[in-house]
Amino acid sequence: MVAPGGAVALAAAGRVTLHAFDVAEHRTVDRLARELAGEPIDILLNAAGLAGHEPQAFGLVDYSDWLAVLQVNVMGPLKMAESFVDHVEASERRTIAILSSRMGSIHETPGGYYPYSSSKAAVNMVGRSLAADLDARDITVVMLNPGPVAAATDRGGLSATASVAQLRAVIERLTPADSGSFLNYDGSACPW
Ligand SMILES: NC(=O)c1ccc[n+]([C@@H]2O[C@H](COP(=O)([O-])OP(=O)(O)OC[C@H]3O[C@@H](n4cnc5c(N)ncnc54)[C@H](OP(=O)(O)O)[C@@H]3O)[C@@H](O)[C@H]2O)c1
Repeated sequence: MVAPGGAVALAAAGRVTLHAFDVAEHRTVDRLARELAGEPIDILLNAAGLAGHEPQAFGLVDYSDWLAVLQVNVMGPLKMAESFVDHVEASERRTIAILSSRMGSIHETPGGYYPYSSSKAAVNMVGRSLAADLDARDITVVMLNPGPVAAATDRGGLSATASVAQLRAVIERLTPADSGSFLNYDGSACPW
């Protein structure tokens, strides 16, 4: 959802610091956690995601690509939480947000999209379990549906700018009572 070069431009303006790592390469996650030891993280936002190769319909699934999708979309947020939990706990906001998707809704699925949909359903379980496990450390964990985000907003999608603005507002309003929730970009509950 970031325009190409957008983060680099923000860094050049001195507004953000960039750190390169790969959520599927756990040693790079651990290395960054060590580099940032003692640095509080108010909001650990897990945005990294793979959509997976098309097609994803019944009979056409690429199983090795599905594994790659699961490594990033499902295992990535758990690994991030495990590696950065001390940083989050040391902060004021103590929040972990995971960008999920309405396509992970078991209740609403129209079928198809096996790799992507299953990864988002699974990460919802990861987030829900994290909410339970980290409750004693006063850490709030939520799953957020940011979309649909599309360049062609006339086809029913949100612009990236509108989605980010709404997600920021939702995160701003979070309280510990929201932990374990699956929320849409407008703050409404997304069906599991
Ligand atoms: N766009 C939508 O309509 C929509 C709707 C619902 C949910 N979502 C979810 O929202 C999140 C962001 O979506 P998006 O549209 O911004 O996706 P995107 O434009 O494809 O960006 C995905 C980001 O994830 C990063 N990434 C992928 N694999 C990674 C890895 N192994 N380690 C670290 N970073 C990795 C990519 O980095 P590189 O560019 O460096 O590879 C890229 O910055 C995703 O989780 C997606 O599933 C999006």
